[in-house]
Amino acid sequence: MTTVNYDRAVAYYDATRAFRSGVAAQYRQAVLPYLAGHDNPRILELAIGTGLIGASFFAGGDSYVGVDISRGMMGRIAPKLDNEKAVDLAQVDIAQRLPFADDSFSLVQAVRVFHLLDDWQRCIQEVRRVLKAGGHLLIVRVAPLDSEAQPPWAVVHGKWDEILANLGVGADGIRHGIFRTDDMMMEHLSATGARVQIVDLLPYTERAVSCRMMVERRRRKMFSSDWHLPADLHARAVQQLNRWLETDCAEPDEMHAQAMVFRAIVARWGHSQENGSRVARASD
Ligand SMILES: C[S@@+](CC[C@H](N)C(=O)[O-])C[C@H]1O[C@@H](n2cnc3c(N)ncnc32)[C@H](O)[C@@H]1O
Repeated sequence: MTTVNYDRAVAYYDATRAFRSGVAAQYRQAVLPYLAGHDNPRILELAIGTGLIGASFFAGGDSYVGVDISRGMMGRIAPKLDNEKAVDLAQVDIAQRLPFADDSFSLVQAVRVFHLLDDWQRCIQEVRRVLKAGGHLLIVRVAPLDSEAQPPWAVVHGKWDEILANLGVGADGIRHGIFRTDDMMMEHLSATGARVQIVDLLPYTERAVSCRMMVERRRRKMFSSDWHLPADLHARAVQQLNRWLETDCAEPDEMHAQAMVFRAIVARWGHSQENGSRVARASD
């Protein structure tokens, strides 16, 4: 599955995924330095969703283009902006050819989406085409700031996977998005001639969540990884998860605000597509 259209998530996406006030503006400040040296920089955001990140760039007056497969998600962006400022948006499948000319953007960013793409290498190839020489690609995910310190509610996801496995859902079915390691993507990017590094763009604190809230999100199929589950199997899994919550979960209602970080794979090509790796090593 290369396209995970979030139309069905529109109603609850912001309520469950939004950042605390001010975080998106700080994120923008952390990204702007990557535009240094570019005249009239243009930025592309792949899979902009409801604009939880992108709205801060539109509000900041950047030359910003957002694309997503879901019109419903993008419909939530303009109302976030003062005076319903004009926004440059397009419905695009980022697993296909991007509808932009070569060398169009100084920076391309993709936040919380690469795990949903089967053919992520194709997407990178397209990004490389639309990026100007010396432009940056930021593949961004959110991660616990301290990888050893998992939030208390993470146990809900572990329990859920265990229940699904016991109900016969194979590993492939548990997560339709394959979680690539950073190493795998960095290796691929390096092979295309990019200079690559991991950058912690911004630490931030997530909104507080309890185990019970996470169980409720599983019940209401608020994670795209559950959308493909048949209704009867999903109902049985929810029943078991609820039983676990009431009998074995240590602190079902304890609210926990996790320390997180926006972690980016930052790639930069300093050259045209031909002879990528040779010229890239000479640049920078
Ligand atoms: C988890 S949301 C992330 C949205 C936003 N970047 C954020 O961080 O809030 C994933 C988004 O990717 C979009 N998406 C998934 N596959 C896509 C594809 N192949 N082409 C374009 N958008 C896609 C979904 O519609 C959804 O809006």
